[in-house]
Amino acid sequence: MQYRLTIDVFCHAEQTSSAAKALAEQRAFARCKIAVRDGGLARAVTHYADHPSPHLIIVEDDGDTDMLQSRLDSLAQVVEPGRKLIVVGAINDISVYRRIVSLGVTDYLVSPLSLEGMTDAIERAAHDPKGPEKCKFIAVTGARGGVGASTIAHNMAWAAAKRLNIRTILADMDLTFGTAGLAFNQDPRTAFGEAFGDPERIDVTLLERYMAGDDDNLQILSTPGALRQYDSIDEESVEKAIDLCRQMAKLVIVDVPHVWTDWSEALLTSADETVLVLAPDIANIREARNLLDFLNGKRGDSKQVKVVINKSDIAKRTRLLPKDISSTLGIQPVAAIPFDPTTFIEAANDGKMIGERFKSHKLIGVFTDLVMRTGVRAGVKSGSATAPKKLAFPGLFRKPQPKVA
Ligand SMILES: Nc1ncnc2c1ncn2[C@@H]1O[C@H](COP(=O)(O)OP(=O)(O)O)[C@@H](O)[C@H]1O
Ligand SMILES: [Mg+2]
Repeated sequence: MQYRLTIDVFCHAEQTSSAAKALAEQRAFARCKIAVRDGGLARAVTHYADHPSPHLIIVEDDGDTDMLQSRLDSLAQVVEPGRKLIVVGAINDISVYRRIVSLGVTDYLVSPLSLEGMTDAIERAAHDPKGPEKCKFIAVTGARGGVGASTIAHNMAWAAAKRLNIRTILADMDLTFGTAGLAFNQDPRTAFGEAFGDPERIDVTLLERYMAGDDDNLQILSTPGALRQYDSIDEESVEKAIDLCRQMAKLVIVDVPHVWTDWSEALLTSADETVLVLAPDIANIREARNLLDFLNGKRGDSKQVKVVINKSDIAKRTRLLPKDISSTLGIQPVAAIPFDPTTFIEAANDGKMIGERFKSHKLIGVFTDLVMRTGVRAGVKSGSATAPKKLAFPGLFRKPQPKVA
């Protein structure tokens, strides 16, 4: 099995550091992003004060256990909830193991750590059924261009961030003509497409530089509108960028433009949920049929594409009613959004989402419901919607199944 985890290791002992560096050479961990640093637990505490948390943190500490507990407490203040922590300590004693694990730490191992000890511990942690809360990844696309897929992706992102209080990233993969920045009245300093010029360099820090948004709960990757060509984008770099976004948020909504390339196919196939938007006409139905056959075949029964009919009542007198479309496609749409040019144009002209432009509007509920139909649940309300919630230790790290060292 190949893992796709981000792992930070903070070492003291030379042997632990060598083991961590050798980890990336192992086939099972070749797709992991592993960062190895010296300085042990103390450095981890300062590091996470201003860096995002990876899936798994391994910290080595050479202090006594009383010190260890207070340092873990400090770490808990800065690490995002739901991440896994393996502690490597100097004391080889089962009572210390029990005490540390009872705090909610995933595992306690004795320093220094061999490569084998490290791989075993990561494998155990990765298979812990109470794993870190995963970030959901939703891909939104249109059966044809102009059907309103981007508009729906934008309003879903707004509803998730503002109505459901979920830390959300909206990634606009229409790298040249994307409108996510414009729609939210944001001006990305650099076009998201530039990130793919040198795929090796893509990391969390780089992506943060491309993000725009005045609210931590909603960050946007888009273009300021420069006429640039982005032809040689490969599937792996897109996958890498989206994986990194998933470490930085609870929900990633990717607006996949109406193109058929390796990377668009990969996004639509691999997303946790794929939403296909279509307008009620014959060409849309033909394209939707093709896309649904292909994507559902690849995604399997449990992850079928969800269909939204947009501008559903645009041609009131034609026979293409939502019920006709669903019987032709053999699928029940999750939403039918009416044709309402005044509302959409007014909001767009103000650089606002419908929920911002209008105090109350029934479409706000429609978009919120659409997000929830993809299985996303409202986040916990904190004092401020902008600050990521920081929980006190020991509730921070998920408690593992009881086991003996
Ligand atoms: N339900 C709707 N009623 C009226 N206009 C809509 C609706 N949905 C989208 N639009 C408009 O349709 C146009 C195309 O939308 P867009 O989201 O850019 O489409 P796509 O991303 O599928 O190419 C935009 O001007 C948008 O405001
Ligand atoms: Mg679009």
